[in-house]
Amino acid sequence: MDESHEILFDEQTIANKVEELASRISADYAGKEPVLVCILKGAMIFTADLMRGLTIPSVIDFVRAASYGGSTTSSKSITIEQDLQIDIRDRHVLLVDTIIDTGRTMDQLLRKFGARGPASIKAVALLDKKSRRVVDVAVAYRGFEIPDVFVVGYGMDCAEKFRNLPYIAALKTD
Ligand code: IMP
Ligand code: MG
Repeated sequence: MDESHEILFDEQTIANKVEELASRISADYAGKEPVLVCILKGAMIFTADLMRGLTIPSVIDFVRAASYGGSTTSSKSITIEQDLQIDIRDRHVLLVDTIIDTGRTMDQLLRKFGARGPASIKAVALLDKKSRRVVDVAVAYRGFEIPDVFVVGYGMDCAEKFRNLPYIAALKTD
């Protein structure tokens, strides 16, 4: 990374927050075995760290979503490009993403998976760009609220680059 990037959260800061979220989830889901649904690709690192932080058993599955249609942001829809393998009926589901921006991805996945009869379904996000929200989506477990900046690292990309960075940085677009 060069001088056009600014580190927002370093490795230790992220680890502490992930640990905090994992502790809360472990307490709230004690006696249960939640299904962690990793929203590909960006959430693979966060989900892996979160799962390792849990002190309760859990299982993992993956979904790949893409947005399509609509020339305006408000008319965009989400399509599932790669679906879950697990039947989530009667399971406790946690949908995991690294960042929530407009809220559209999380909102539509909550609705689609919510229609499959899970025992419960909630959203987990490490970062929340709240000022960008278009759809009012409930985020049960949230790490940090961030301003409207484009971030990379810790799984998040810009044109598939920077996912490997162990920290989260803001990309400057000047
Ligand atoms: P939403 O549907 O608008 O909430 O967008 C959520 C998705 O957009 C995330 O899963 C990311 O893939 C992507 N995204 C949103 N903001 C950023 C960012 O600042 N950096 C990288 N990806 C982002
Ligand atoms: Mg991306």
